[in-house]
Amino acid sequence: MDGNGRWATRRGLPRAAGHRAGAQAVRRVVEAAPGLGARGLTLFAFSADNWKRPPGEVAALMRLFARHLRTETPKLVERGVRLDVVGRRDRLPAPLVASIAAAERATRDGAELRLRLAVDYSARWAISAGVLLPDVDLLVRTGGERRLSDFLLWESAYAELVFTDVMWPDFTAADLAAAIAEFHARQRRFGALPEAAAG
Ligand code: FPP
Repeated sequence: MDGNGRWATRRGLPRAAGHRAGAQAVRRVVEAAPGLGARGLTLFAFSADNWKRPPGEVAALMRLFARHLRTETPKLVERGVRLDVVGRRDRLPAPLVASIAAAERATRDGAELRLRLAVDYSARWAISAGVLLPDVDLLVRTGGERRLSDFLLWESAYAELVFTDVMWPDFTAADLAAAIAEFHARQRRFGALPEAAAG
C-alpha cells in the first residue's frame, strides 16, 4: 500500500492525512474484493523496517490501525470477512494488540474473504520463524515501486506481479478489477509447458 506519504505531500498535507486516506482505500478494496472473485487478500500495512520512520509517524500509524480495527470490525463480521493479523506482536503497543485480538476473535467465523493484515511483518523473519501463508496468486504494488521489499517472498514464488503508479489513497475497486483482469490474461505455467503445446 505505497504512496500515502507522497499523496499527502503533493496536496500540502501532513503524511498522516495520507495514511488516513489510505485507510479509506483499505475499506474500498476489502468491500470490492469478494465481488471480484478474491477469496483471500493480504495487505502490507507496516513492515519490520518501517520502525525506522520518525516516532511521530509510527505512533500515528499504530493509533490509526487500532482505530480502524475497532470501527471496521462490525462491518467485517456483517460481510463474512475473517481477519488475521500477521507479523510480530511483541513490539506493538498494547492497545493495538488488544484491538487485534478482539477483531480476530469477532471475525473468526467469516467465510467470504480471508483478510490478512501484515503489521510489523518481514518475510525473512516469517521464513526463519516458519510462519508461512498460502501461495500468492497475484501481488499488486502501488506507488510506482518495483520491488518486493521483504513481503511474502516465499509465498510469491509463482505470483503474478502487477506494479501500478497509482498512489494507494487513490486506489479504487476499478484498479483492483484491472489488476485481476491482467492476472487472468496471463498464462501461468509453473515451469511446465503451455497446455496447448504439451499435447
Ligand atoms: C506506505 O506508504 C504505507 C504505509 C507504511 C502505511 C500503510 C497504512 C495505511 C494504508 C493506512 C491504513 C491501514 C490500515 C490497515 C487501517 P508510504 O507512507 O511509504 O508512502 P510514500 O511511499 O509515498 O512515502
